[in-house]
Amino acid sequence: MTDTADQPTGEPLAHSRQQRLGLSPMPSLPPDLEQELDRLDQEFWLPTSKLEQIVHRFRSELNQGLAAHAQNIAMHQTWVHSLPSGNERGTYLTLDLGGTNLRVSHVTLHGDNKPRQSRTELKQTQYRIPSTLKTGTAPQLWDFIATKLAAFIRETGLGNYFSPARPIPLGFTFSYPCTQARLDHAELQTWTKGFDIAGVEGTDVAASLRAAISTRRLPVDLVCVVNDTVGALVASAYSDPETVVGAVFGTGCNAAYMAGLDRIGKMSRGEREAARKRGPKMAVNCEYGAFDNAHAVLPRTALDREIDARSPRPGEQAFEKMAAGLYLGELFRLVLLDLARRGRVFSRGSAGAESLDLDATKLTTPYALDTALLSALETDTRSDLAASTALLHSTLALPSPPTHAEAALARAIAVLISVRGARLCACGVAAICQNEGIERGHVAADGSVANKQPGFRGRWGAAMGEILGWEEEASPIRLVAAEDGSGVGCAIVAAMEVERRAREGAE
Ligand code: GLC
Repeated sequence: MTDTADQPTGEPLAHSRQQRLGLSPMPSLPPDLEQELDRLDQEFWLPTSKLEQIVHRFRSELNQGLAAHAQNIAMHQTWVHSLPSGNERGTYLTLDLGGTNLRVSHVTLHGDNKPRQSRTELKQTQYRIPSTLKTGTAPQLWDFIATKLAAFIRETGLGNYFSPARPIPLGFTFSYPCTQARLDHAELQTWTKGFDIAGVEGTDVAASLRAAISTRRLPVDLVCVVNDTVGALVASAYSDPETVVGAVFGTGCNAAYMAGLDRIGKMSRGEREAARKRGPKMAVNCEYGAFDNAHAVLPRTALDREIDARSPRPGEQAFEKMAAGLYLGELFRLVLLDLARRGRVFSRGSAGAESLDLDATKLTTPYALDTALLSALETDTRSDLAASTALLHSTLALPSPPTHAEAALARAIAVLISVRGARLCACGVAAICQNEGIERGHVAADGSVANKQPGFRGRWGAAMGEILGWEEEASPIRLVAAEDGSGVGCAIVAAMEVERRAREGAE
């Protein structure tokens, strides 16, 4: 049962399902599996009325975050005062602490004397983050980052051109909820996306990074800390003036947009006056992964509750845990595990469930399944489901290949989970657009779900249309692939800051 029962339609589910979910024609399943699929469909499907209910509450939580500090959706002020002109130039370093890799980039901005596609150049190295670091300590984190930054500077020869006295500007993409008193300050509020490094929450990550840089006498000057959504917004606006929102649908999910200063009621008078001198707007990092932490409208299933309860921060990021990439594969695993435990799938012979040693499979390993598996199942549209069968057999480490019916059921479950995620993702952006009176433009989207999940764009667009009342083909608000926000976007913010300092210093 879901938290808030709101069931879809009077039509027989199997008939409506194919059309609603855009499922390729499916063989009819044995009655017990058909019944399981009906149940899951009822739990996971969000009808338009539910989307509207979610958006209604979303709008009010977004407004509360703008009006006052310490609200559920934080709506962090970022001190990014304008979108770029497209003519920012220079050479910058950026660091991006992602879920899997630390990316160090050397970015050159050429400005608008070059055509749009060649305005930026990027040299990048990715360093894999050891999984122990994610639950390690703060000194280990800063040491890791500074060591890799030093290696990059050495390997690229940048040390020959810059020195601690004449440093290269550095931007830091740090995509976790932070309060920012300035552009080069960011106090981590809480880790998200499975990170749990002791001693960082409540501290200024910019100050810690600066200290690690100075200990190693690296020739860099940290000028900005940027969220990935702000990076996506800025990087895309550099070459696409129709950009209205920067969004990330990846390991986590979140969005940023330019809010009028008059909308940010929580700013102090001093902050507002300082900001007004630099422009009428400011980028706001919504941090809407925390939407509905009170569990008032999100229709969480028992398995969503289980994911939350076993996460490092139970009770936090309620919305993200239902919609973001980190959790979709896990949800899929839990659904299959439940079916296997009850002997509905993967058991052979008369002994039923007991014939399957669950612990010998991947079904009992938390986070063993990647969202990429769901995408791969969805892409298999051949009626024999040969690819899905082989993939499930190997990825789940099953003793024998799944039957055709099991593969078909697994594929349908992958679609149910992905469709729910995409429809939820539309709710956040629709709420921003309605609150801010945004009627047209491009939502620059980055992240593995947006980029790699087949059908995400179409499902997101369809849900936006249902909420905002337009035909999908005519949609005035469109999802476009974001430019590289964490590298290029962060470098552009650094460039705008360097220009501003030079201008204001000269005044
Ligand atoms: C999480 C983070 C947020 C980030 C998002 C996408 O929600 O808290 O800062 O933007 O993931 O990476």
